[in-house]
Amino acid sequence: MKAKGKEKPEMKGTSPAPKGLPPKVTMNVRHVILVLSGKGGVGKSTVSTNLASALAAHGRNVGLLDLDIHGPNIPKMLGIEDQRPAVLEKSMEPVRVTGNLAVMSMAFLLPDTSSPVIWRGPMKMAVIRQFLEEVNWGSLDYLIVDLPPGTGDEALTIAQLAPNVQGAVIVTTPQDVAVLDAVKAVKFIEKLELPVIGTNLFRLMRESVFS
Ligand SMILES: Nc1ncnc2c1ncn2[C@@H]1O[C@H](COP(=O)(O)OP(=O)(O)O)[C@@H](O)[C@H]1O
Ligand SMILES: [Mg+2]
Repeated sequence: MKAKGKEKPEMKGTSPAPKGLPPKVTMNVRHVILVLSGKGGVGKSTVSTNLASALAAHGRNVGLLDLDIHGPNIPKMLGIEDQRPAVLEKSMEPVRVTGNLAVMSMAFLLPDTSSPVIWRGPMKMAVIRQFLEEVNWGSLDYLIVDLPPGTGDEALTIAQLAPNVQGAVIVTTPQDVAVLDAVKAVKFIEKLELPVIGTNLFRLMRESVFS
């Protein structure tokens, strides 16, 4: 399916990497959107899931990549936690929620929901590369990337490796400490010379119920 928007970045991920950085992976995706925050529990995975579902409902081909390697929640949120990606000889099929919404997550690769992933940076970087290069995403209009809190390995790696990164959505709750850390996330994205597409102030329901 073709994207209907006017702006059509190069389909192949051939954009050259800035000097000293690893080369971008080759994959067919028009828009990669990162969802990040300074803190955990502020609504990143919820926003990522809703954003991906909304774009898919509008007929776009969407991939949802759960890069919260230590706390992958996307499969649970979409009710697909019992599914497993089909493993082919050199690649893997993402789990399809609908014909045009596909998901990949560390949760699919773990033996059970309580197994922790105890990995250092280089192992995470290797799996992120595999999630981009060795998953049969097909031709995507959007790849929505749900990140763990903060500005660590996962955020840096995806920003460096993925082609056509259009920017980031920064999610925060209204508390001072969450906003303080969200500002760091904004500065991180600016340092990577990417645009902040939006900030999502996530007012949790319990606050409005109890205030
Ligand atoms: N609109 C909402 N109102 C209240 N709680 C919500 C809402 N959306 C999500 N939550 C809950 O808030 C918690 C954090 O959301 P999540 O998206 O997992 O955050 P993060 O990915 O930033 O850690 C989850 O328990 C989720 O169920
Ligand atoms: Mg999350």
